[in-house]
Amino acid sequence: MKDVITLAIESSCDETACAILKNGREVLTNIISTQIETHKKFGGVVPEVASRKHIENIDVVVQQALEEANLGFGDITHIAVTYGPGLVGALLVGLSYAKALAFSLGIPFVGVNHIEGHLSANYIVDNDLKPPFITLIVSGGHTHLVEVKDYGVYEILGKTKDDASGEAFDKIARAMNLGYPGGPIVDRLAKNGNPHSVEFPRACINEDGYDFSFSGLKSSVLNHLNSCKMKGIEIVPEDICASFQAAVVDVLVNKTIKACKDKNYNIVTLSGGVAANSALREKMKQTCDENGLKLCYPPLVLCTDNAAMIGCAGYYRYINGRRDGMELNAVPNLKIDKG
Ligand code: KG4
Ligand code: ZN
Repeated sequence: MKDVITLAIESSCDETACAILKNGREVLTNIISTQIETHKKFGGVVPEVASRKHIENIDVVVQQALEEANLGFGDITHIAVTYGPGLVGALLVGLSYAKALAFSLGIPFVGVNHIEGHLSANYIVDNDLKPPFITLIVSGGHTHLVEVKDYGVYEILGKTKDDASGEAFDKIARAMNLGYPGGPIVDRLAKNGNPHSVEFPRACINEDGYDFSFSGLKSSVLNHLNSCKMKGIEIVPEDICASFQAAVVDVLVNKTIKACKDKNYNIVTLSGGVAANSALREKMKQTCDENGLKLCYPPLVLCTDNAAMIGCAGYYRYINGRRDGMELNAVPNLKIDKG
């Protein structure tokens, strides 16, 4: 059978990315142009600025990807592109580019759900991985616990009722003036802190369902910081980071393992930017080992936003017969079980 070559585009937030994959799981190239430096001075992503940067960068990353893979447009079988969820202006840049490219080359294109992209990063890492399994998707915009029943068949078991886990990391870092994005900085500082210095709340941990909540934890950290300030107590950022991180990790691990036991799954995968967190990886690994569960997570570059994961998800959509038309629009609040 002829190889399927997927050219994938991702532009849902602050990374403009293009990847080329062979038969869905072999990454020939994975180019990521990040806008972090641009948004740093604002303490978060500015949507309008992100859209403009995507317009500047998209052609550059596509050309770079083709060069690095030593391929021409004529070698591409189909295009895969993120069409939601994300920032509408940012999504529209990638989607319009993908449509124009597919139209001019006369090849099909498929829209990909960004969250499905994140979990699909695991297929690239582990060639033997196939559904069914439980996946925890934790990023700046999402915190989802999902049953992957088959390729493209998902059931959401739980999600956050308020802030996403990555958002909580970013907000805590911002409150302590640590920089942006907060996750990697908190992770680094926490390595030298005491996770028991403050016992922050573990919301929902004893509830029956699989939902999460991080806004109470965030408020609790902010209150603690304020109260220390008012009482003139010295704040040790390392200790706050370690204690906050331990609270997040405890809840994420606890709910994931509970889902596996309740639903009789023996494989767990992690994905999304927060899956890069060293404490989460460590504790999840240890707990999976104790419970005889197999754990898979992507390398750091495939945890945060990238187009390789979109290409992998797009490949499975493509071989399952999905084709999208020029009428496909960006869907900023696209749900994982709704397209
Ligand atoms: O997946 P991603 O690149 O974008 C979204 O789809 O949201 O995730 C970005 C999020 C940010 O909130 C960032 O702070 C967080 O992932 N993150 C981390 C770490 N690396 C990135 N959070 C905790 N620990 C990390 N090492
Ligand atoms: Zn993402």
